[in-house]
Amino acid sequence: MIIGIPKEIKNHEYRVGATPNYVSLLTHAGHQVFVQRHAGAQIGYTDQMYAEAGAIIVETPEEVYEAEMVIKVKEPLPPEYPLLKEGQILFCYLHLAPDPVQTQQLVESKVVGIAYETVTDSHGRLPLLIPMSEMAGRIAIQVGATCLQLNHGGRGVLLGGVPGVLPARVVVIGGGVVGTESARMALGLGADVIILDRDLARLRTLDALFGPRLKTLYSSPSNILESISQADLVVGSVLIPGKTAPKLITREMIHSMIPGSVIVDVAIDQGGCAETSRPTSHAEPTYVVDGVIHYCVTNMPGACARTSTQALTNATADYALMIANKGWKRALKEHAGLRHGLNVCYGHVTNEPVAHDLGYPYVPAENFLA
Ligand SMILES: NC(=O)c1ccc[n+]([C@@H]2O[C@H](COP(=O)([O-])OP(=O)(O)OC[C@H]3O[C@@H](n4cnc5c(N)ncnc54)[C@H](O)[C@@H]3O)[C@@H](O)[C@H]2O)c1
Repeated sequence: MIIGIPKEIKNHEYRVGATPNYVSLLTHAGHQVFVQRHAGAQIGYTDQMYAEAGAIIVETPEEVYEAEMVIKVKEPLPPEYPLLKEGQILFCYLHLAPDPVQTQQLVESKVVGIAYETVTDSHGRLPLLIPMSEMAGRIAIQVGATCLQLNHGGRGVLLGGVPGVLPARVVVIGGGVVGTESARMALGLGADVIILDRDLARLRTLDALFGPRLKTLYSSPSNILESISQADLVVGSVLIPGKTAPKLITREMIHSMIPGSVIVDVAIDQGGCAETSRPTSHAEPTYVVDGVIHYCVTNMPGACARTSTQALTNATADYALMIANKGWKRALKEHAGLRHGLNVCYGHVTNEPVAHDLGYPYVPAENFLA
């Protein structure tokens, strides 16, 4: 198969869809790989390293998008839409539910869009979202701590406090992968941490994992209001797979928060879990509503692009190889979890929550695998 690895064009996005090692896995299996010049340059993967892995270095995105399968990190952006082709496999994050424009473009282009974030494993987990959620959960506390500094507009609170001064209060809403890693980092820095989830089994697991230093709380509107109104830092980390994030933090709740406190809405890639959240970029990551600093960057792991690329490609490479070796139809037929990744196919929406949220007829992936 001919495979293309473009240079990412999202603001401050330096991750790349495949490392040189990943490329060599593909080329050794007999596939031809086109890598756009400087695709990995910012994170230490030179064109020479890709060439030594057997890739052909090309100058333009147009040449990369000639490929039968395009492997990238983030969803395609408007300059990339005209490059997509009928029947071309697009293997990357898509996050379609909150993005009607992109969905329409992918439907019109008739690509075979396999989204990392909805691929599942045999336990129903999301193996291609997990590494970036681990990254984003940890980064959320780093950026939240920075935003709390006075010189960044925050209320001048140190997460861990010091002897004689109480630590900051951190509230994490959603105790999945992002939430767990945020809690781990915040506890590690000495903060006072409450984590909310509506899944009691998940809260029990977190209780057993962290012990009494982590306070767990059932997620209800009144518990959310009470906890965030006393918080210095709130992390939004809920997910209902494939769906737009539920707006658990209302505008009135934001009004009740302490001026100079911070919300890092990691769930912003699914639309955000606060009514006041709107997507931001690494160039201008924050804005203020009612005195509360909002950090809503949709590609947080891009800030630590080298670690993120390694973590992401550790998880994606085997799937890409499977698709390349077997062709997408056979790969999806044989691997139910990969089948869940199919979001759009030849002009149809094949992910039920996306179809539901955006008003498209839902066509099951199985219909295309005969
Ligand atoms: N902004 C970024 O750069 C970035 C990076 C990685 C992941 N994310 C996003 O972070 C979000 C969380 O991802 P994850 O991997 O941790 O998901 P996950 O599935 O591991 O965890 C989500 C948790 O939310 C909980 N939840 C659902 N509804 C809830 C409610 N009403 N109240 C409280 N909890 C509720 C679930 O029970 C689950 O434990 C996703 O939207 C993901 O796409 C964003």
